[in-house]
Amino acid sequence: MKRIDEVNLRNKTVIIRVDYNVPINDKLEITDDNRIKESLKTINYCLDNNCKIILLSHLGKVKKEEDKLKYSLKPVSERLSLLLDKQVTFVPETRGNLVKETVLKMQPGDIVMLENTRFEDLNDKKESSCDLELAKYWASLGDIFINDAFGTCHRAHASNVGISKYLPSCLGFLVLKELDNLLPIINNPERPFTVILGGAKLSDKLKTVENLIKKADYILVGGAMAYTFLKANNEEVGKSLVDEDSLEFVKSLDKEKIILPIDHIVSLENKEETRVVDKISPNEIGLDIGPKTRELFKSFLEKSKTIFWNGPMGYYENPIYQEGTKYLCEVISKLDVTSVVGGGDSASCVINMGYKDKFTHVSTGGGASLELLEGKELPGINI
Ligand code: 3PG
Repeated sequence: MKRIDEVNLRNKTVIIRVDYNVPINDKLEITDDNRIKESLKTINYCLDNNCKIILLSHLGKVKKEEDKLKYSLKPVSERLSLLLDKQVTFVPETRGNLVKETVLKMQPGDIVMLENTRFEDLNDKKESSCDLELAKYWASLGDIFINDAFGTCHRAHASNVGISKYLPSCLGFLVLKELDNLLPIINNPERPFTVILGGAKLSDKLKTVENLIKKADYILVGGAMAYTFLKANNEEVGKSLVDEDSLEFVKSLDKEKIILPIDHIVSLENKEETRVVDKISPNEIGLDIGPKTRELFKSFLEKSKTIFWNGPMGYYENPIYQEGTKYLCEVISKLDVTSVVGGGDSASCVINMGYKDKFTHVSTGGGASLELLEGKELPGINI
């Protein structure tokens, strides 16, 4: 794998695979443009090198024809254009005459974005199955391939791994920054190393949890994940969210390093009136970590040198249950530590709560950062 700054890009047509799989609401407005902002360094570097730039990205999962309406990259091209203060030509096709004509007309410094690569999934899953004829076609549009889509590096698709088979390829600055920040976390963390785990879906994270337990000194578990851990210890969790399929896995873990909540913000089913309890009653739902737990977690964070955080501490979608997550952001923001946030919901929380700059690194990769921390080699990195 080569770095972007090891390749001569001068006057070349570059194909950059970015990950612009950003959240978009029903009004087709982008609600978090962090991934777009983080991609600007590579794009600007290519502009400085007098390149013609062709951008490829996926957006969402495209399974049926109607999905095309909500998953067009057009709004993304407009946001990119605003951020760069430069025209970005959007081509509403993934291949064909319009693509060819637009690329032929490009001048150095021009930026063209093709339509969502996953529209090709309606055609026999050509993108997701890494169809090499499609990859070869995209590769034919440029001279050099730059993979800057860290969030997609755990996928071997036509628009990343496929294209790299047909063009000289390298990794862009966004991917390099992710590797520089995430790899030391698993390979050589400064100790004590504390992992904060939260969020709802434990089943997607089993291997990562297993690997992090081996590497970390302390594991603080909050969010809905904590109720699965508490239930595995035979504690009453009432109507809290439990990942039943992961109970046996949790029971098999070495619990020595695991710190669980000692109090909770709970509610009855209407989810509006709350109270703080040490023990959850059968008719209650745990929705955030309580004040004693916040202090307990703080005491571990304060003695740490490295912190990795994946998953919010509560049901953050409702502002009433954001306090635990906010509290930990505030604690970490004041510490002199290496602090890394895995992508996905925890990254959105940290960014939306205004703490992004207080962390050493906020990853743009959800599944990709977790698979990297699992110790896996990602196909998109080994190009
Ligand atoms: C992500 O958001 O994690 C990446 O863009 C990958 O998306 P996917 O899970 O739909 O492949």
